[in-house]
Amino acid sequence: MHENKTQIVIGSDHAAYQLKEKIRQYLIERGMDINDVGTYSEDSVDYVDFGIKVSTMVSTGKYERGILLCGTGLGMSMVANKFPHVRAALCNGLFSAIMSRRHNNSNILVMGGRVIGEELARQIVKAWLETAFDGGRHQLRIKKFDRIEEMV
Ligand code: RB5
Repeated sequence: MHENKTQIVIGSDHAAYQLKEKIRQYLIERGMDINDVGTYSEDSVDYVDFGIKVSTMVSTGKYERGILLCGTGLGMSMVANKFPHVRAALCNGLFSAIMSRRHNNSNILVMGGRVIGEELARQIVKAWLETAFDGGRHQLRIKKFDRIEEMV
C-alpha cells in the first residue's frame, strides 16, 4: 500500500535525530509528503520545542498525522497530549502501535530513539500507517475524553 501525497509532519530532538533521518527516508520511500520540522543535527535542543511544533499542526488540523521522536519518547508524548484533539501514542512495540490506531485512533506516533532500533521503528511506522481505527464504541470513548478539556 502506498499513500501517495499523504502528508505527515515529523519532528525529533537531538537524541532521536538519527532515527528521525531513517524514518524520514522510509516515509519518502513510501511516497509520502513530509514536513520535517527538525531538529536537523545532533546538537542539544529541547524536545519540548519540537513537540509543540508537530502537535500544533496536528491539533489545528493542518496535518492529520504526525510522528515525534525523542530519547525515550516520554517527553514528546507528555507534550503532545497537552494539545486538544491530539492523541499521541508512545509505541516502542508493534502491538501498541496497532492497538493505538484500532482503539485510540492515535494521530501522533511517538517512539524513543534510545529505546528501539531502526528496523523495529520502520515496522512500527508501517503498522501505524496501515492500521485503521475500529470506530464504534471506541469513538464514543474518545468523545468522552475529548470533553475533559471542558471539565477542568
Ligand atoms: C534528552 O536527553 C532526553 O531527555 C529526551 O530525548 C527525552 O528522552 C525526554 O523525554
